[in-house]
Amino acid sequence: MATTMQRAEAAEHAMSEELDRIVVKSVIYTSGERDPRVPAPRPPDQGRLYLMGHDPRLPKMPDKPTLFDFFRYRFGPSAHMLQSARLAQKNGTSEKVVLACLLHDIAIAGFIRSDHGYWSAQLLEPYVDEEVSWAIRYHQTLRFFADESVGYKYPEMYVKLFGADYVPEPHIQAAHRYAREHKWYMTSRLITVNDLYSFDPNVKVELEEFTDIVGRNFKQPKEGLGFDPSPSAHMWRTINWPTRYL
Ligand SMILES: [Fe+2]
Ligand SMILES: [Fe+2]
Repeated sequence: MATTMQRAEAAEHAMSEELDRIVVKSVIYTSGERDPRVPAPRPPDQGRLYLMGHDPRLPKMPDKPTLFDFFRYRFGPSAHMLQSARLAQKNGTSEKVVLACLLHDIAIAGFIRSDHGYWSAQLLEPYVDEEVSWAIRYHQTLRFFADESVGYKYPEMYVKLFGADYVPEPHIQAAHRYAREHKWYMTSRLITVNDLYSFDPNVKVELEEFTDIVGRNFKQPKEGLGFDPSPSAHMWRTINWPTRYL
């Protein structure tokens, strides 16, 4: 059996070997900070190889990662989603709504913030009931529009964040009109109702509280999330290996 020291050395060796690989960033990581039209400066490669797998600066994910593994190893703090899910549960909503609340902002937590409702829905679509991903897709839009029938007001926080004069763009207005008339409108609306504006730093909600709900409502692929043939598997792979050259 390898000693702790040997294991540490092996890990270190693996890391230095991996870091010999050249890591480049996707345009989307830097666009805005730099002008994407300008060729990115590249370090001289001097015969070195480019990274084509696990980024040694990140914790290694299991070979067959689960949804929870992504929460543990790749997502930023998820207290907001966990507390929203617990609130939905406390409010007596259906399992679908609780699951939707638990996952509604995963794109912000681990992928791309802009248009996060759409990205989150697309990531999840192959693995959840259509109603759940639909609700997640439109929660982003519905957040901008009040619905007095359920006591949902335009978030005060949005005035702070975007200014009092922000008006949702025409495509968002159109998405709202569409969602408003849809049979799953209320599922999506319930995400916004349980979407906490500010979470309580003193309340700790564990992912494991939702093991059963996820088990019943999320189709975990046997190959591991990202290594299955679903239409969004590549997005999960990119979260797992965000710096692969190709
Ligand atoms: Fe959101
Ligand atoms: Fe949210």
